[in-house]
Amino acid sequence: MPFTANRRFKASPRLFVGADGVRYSTADGRQVLDGISGMWCVLAGHGRKEISDAIAAQAAKMDYAASYQVAHPLAFELANRLTTIMPDGLDHVFFTNSGSEAVDTALKIALAYHHRRGEAQRRMFVGRARGFHGAGFGGTSVGGIANNRKAFGGNLLPAVDHLPDTHDPERNAFSRGQPQWGAERADALEEIVALHGAESIAAVIVEPMAGSTGVLVPPVGYLERLREICDRHGLLLIFDEVITAFGRIGAGSAAERFNVLPDMMTVAKGLTNGTVPMGGVLMSAEIHDTLMSAPGDGIELFHGYTYSGHPLACAAGLATLEVFEREGLFERAAELEPYWRDAVHSLDDSRHVIDVREVGIAAGIELEPREGRPGARAGEAFDHAYEAGAFIRVTGDVIALAPPLIIEKPDIDRLVGIVDDVLQAVD
Ligand SMILES: Cc1ncc(COP(=O)(O)O)c(C=O)c1O
Repeated sequence: MPFTANRRFKASPRLFVGADGVRYSTADGRQVLDGISGMWCVLAGHGRKEISDAIAAQAAKMDYAASYQVAHPLAFELANRLTTIMPDGLDHVFFTNSGSEAVDTALKIALAYHHRRGEAQRRMFVGRARGFHGAGFGGTSVGGIANNRKAFGGNLLPAVDHLPDTHDPERNAFSRGQPQWGAERADALEEIVALHGAESIAAVIVEPMAGSTGVLVPPVGYLERLREICDRHGLLLIFDEVITAFGRIGAGSAAERFNVLPDMMTVAKGLTNGTVPMGGVLMSAEIHDTLMSAPGDGIELFHGYTYSGHPLACAAGLATLEVFEREGLFERAAELEPYWRDAVHSLDDSRHVIDVREVGIAAGIELEPREGRPGARAGEAFDHAYEAGAFIRVTGDVIALAPPLIIEKPDIDRLVGIVDDVLQAVD
């Protein structure tokens, strides 16, 4: 099982057997409130009939079509819908089957872009400490989570440097929305450029809001400053929006919410509401057109997957985007945000809590670690919450909450109430 204490799980398995709305049902017949949208992906809630019907209809009509040399219309329809939803300037898309593949694809496109422009020496990537970009070799290399790298570190991509993370609890603890302090941490990019030379750097990749390391919200002005520095030195800026895209932070994307346009954006998870694995890389016309300017009329990008633009994933994606639009889900998230903010900040004074941070419908609740046993307290909180009827996510000593965007206020109160009770119960 991925990123799981397999032996602990086997000793005491937790099995979900059904899901509807904002709740799972368990094998032992209980209802569990989904406090993390499955895994940040079930934005429109579970059991959406419109989506499962579209998948079933497509499976009956045409189960599979290759995307090498032939195609099928849904892939183009979905690409057009997706680029309409996302900010102007990200007008082309390449489909993958996961966030990890989307990240590796974006990194390879960055290399291919510079190569095509006669700057093949731009081969270095800049990631960020505490960044998570999936489990592929590229994503692991630019990622900044020590445990994810250590066992493989001897043989990851060699030409990678990392920015410092943006977490600054001394100045920013208990921020409401974007923290005020920390834009200057983007200046570390200037130092990296000075160290390696701009001419050797292909791209910078960051999660606009780091999700997997505990909801680190970008400080005011930080993303803008990264964009400026990238522009100054000809570096491509990639936003990994696998978690933030599709309404999570009260807008279609973090790029839209924070008004900073990257050159590429990776998406996955919410694109199909978690129903069928799918990811994608959105890119600027400049990148697309450069790739398309290959001499002759042969293959422009030697990259892709058997299941790129899979018909079932495309059917799921189209039905999902339709649900988002029909229900105004991004706007709903924005309207719900003040209620969510007040609710999660009601935990500010709860036992063990040393920080609460939030944006959109996401929150990180950081606990004081136990002496010599980092992560143990939050791990225990996870166990207690599950027993008390809430599925949450923990990373280190941070509890991450990000329920489906259809959640109603009483269930927000219930979720936060369970977390509060659990914090009272754990030592
Ligand atoms: C920001 C980010 N990028 C990439 C990934 C990897 O996505 P996947 O698990 O679909 O490969 C994740 C997964 O959580 C993520 O949060």
